[in-house]
Amino acid sequence: MKILLIVGYRVFLHPLRNFPGPFAARFTSAYGTFFVWRRTFHIDSLRLHEKYAGPVVRIAPNRLIFNSATALQDMYNNPKVVKGSSYSTQRQSAKGTPNLFNTIDKEAHSKKRRIIGPVISERSMRVFEPDMLRQIDAFLLRLLRSSRIDKFVNTTPPCERLAVDIIGQLAFGYPLNTQNDPTHRVIVEGLKTRGRRSSLYFFWPDLKILEPLFNWIEGKNTLDGLYRSVRTMIQARMAIPKDAKHDFFALASGKLSTREPGLISKDLWAEAVFFIAAGGSTTSTALSGMFFYLSRNPDVYARLASEIRSTFSSRCDIRAGHELHNCKYLRAVIDETMRMSPSSLGPAWRSQDPASIAAGEVFTVDGHVIPPGTQVGSSRYAVQHNEAFFPEPFKFQPERWLSSEDDSPEDQEARAAMRRAFAPFSLGDRSCAGKAMAYLEMSLTIAKTMWYFGFKKTPGEAGNLGETLGRPDEFQLYYSLVVENDGPNLVFTPRGEHWRDLEPSDSTSL
Ligand code: HEM
Repeated sequence: MKILLIVGYRVFLHPLRNFPGPFAARFTSAYGTFFVWRRTFHIDSLRLHEKYAGPVVRIAPNRLIFNSATALQDMYNNPKVVKGSSYSTQRQSAKGTPNLFNTIDKEAHSKKRRIIGPVISERSMRVFEPDMLRQIDAFLLRLLRSSRIDKFVNTTPPCERLAVDIIGQLAFGYPLNTQNDPTHRVIVEGLKTRGRRSSLYFFWPDLKILEPLFNWIEGKNTLDGLYRSVRTMIQARMAIPKDAKHDFFALASGKLSTREPGLISKDLWAEAVFFIAAGGSTTSTALSGMFFYLSRNPDVYARLASEIRSTFSSRCDIRAGHELHNCKYLRAVIDETMRMSPSSLGPAWRSQDPASIAAGEVFTVDGHVIPPGTQVGSSRYAVQHNEAFFPEPFKFQPERWLSSEDDSPEDQEARAAMRRAFAPFSLGDRSCAGKAMAYLEMSLTIAKTMWYFGFKKTPGEAGNLGETLGRPDEFQLYYSLVVENDGPNLVFTPRGEHWRDLEPSDSTSL
């Protein structure tokens, strides 16, 4: 009886009752959770926006998703808004310590952001760049060796390991060395397991009671392995002086909480696990995506290769600075990849700030009045495939990001509208703190790979890995808070004699 009353209320009396959306989603979160569980939520959200032809869909009893540029500004660039209550499910336990990502309170967040932001700022990257370049060289050396032994390389595992090794260095100055040694590779699998479960709780918080069941079904090995590796890193770092390295620990640890000597504070632990996830999973998806699209679009590949090989006169020149900044086509390829296949798929849920509710303010998103307590968000994939902003949205066209002197005022306005709808790093004060780092890591990795190698799609069936079912030109993403992907399989060919720079000096033959 109670269930019937709840269903009746949600369908006929609920303040969101007049918003369009599937019938089942009006009364149960199970509807959207099914797509999260199937890891196709991004594709389903796009389908639902098309079906209910408009900017908004009611996707759960208390949740709305939007797919317009105006909505993005209203939800993410708005002082009346805070992160939705869903974020509290991302703490390790109900009483768990919040980290930068899942802190909801604005003041507490800005305090944390002031501590952690500088670790990954553009300025910090100038100091960290040599460490990043060393990891990228290790990635290139692995590619070189694989190109000698294997017929082709699945680029996903090397990109995942590269990103984890870089973030291990930046977080705790620790050589995880997953590119060459399997010991800490469990971090990658642990992040994926954590991400899959967190995505379910993020959409339907009540499911968190199933955690012991998931542990029983899936075992806790990968999660335990992840936490063990994080603990190893922190303990190794705590054993040396704080200022011995330029890393997260040096810049942030003392300011997070007072800790007893030798113990890892809860604050530090919570931030460390998120930091590794944020930096260790997102960039790798974008890198694999770029390899996928470059290997399918020969004209784009040729133009980018020419830009990189003519801009730099030696491998040592490929580093942050004027020349890299001037590689406009490289930036366009990165942006077009993140448009087609965003590494963070959303929705990032937001609600009206309690202070704004108390002040009696009205919260509107794209002209719709949002009742207090509602969680709103946007599927980044759906907005970035919205034809109103991105003509031919399923075509990989880096050129769409490049302005030209011949642009008419209409072209300029269309490009400005496109930029307003493009938010792979989100917007506003909760947007990605690691954006500068991510662009640097992606630019250096792709530029250096194209300096040393040519690459192409593997012939035959194996070459299809990474293609989306029904849309072979699109890189397949699997929805999760830690987005997953596989492939592409590529054949790498070393260019000329450049490979000799990569090999240690005692090895001379190819
Ligand atoms: C292509 C790469 C990346 C993408 C697409 C990306 C995307 C995002 C997005 C969309 C958010 C907002 C999430 C939300 O509101 O729920 C976010 C937050 C964040 N990201 Fe990234 N990210 C990337 C790389 C990185 C890297 C390399 C780091 C370095 C550690 C990083 C650190 C962070 C942090 C600290 C936050 C939380 C910011 C806050 O709440 O104040 N990200 N990222």
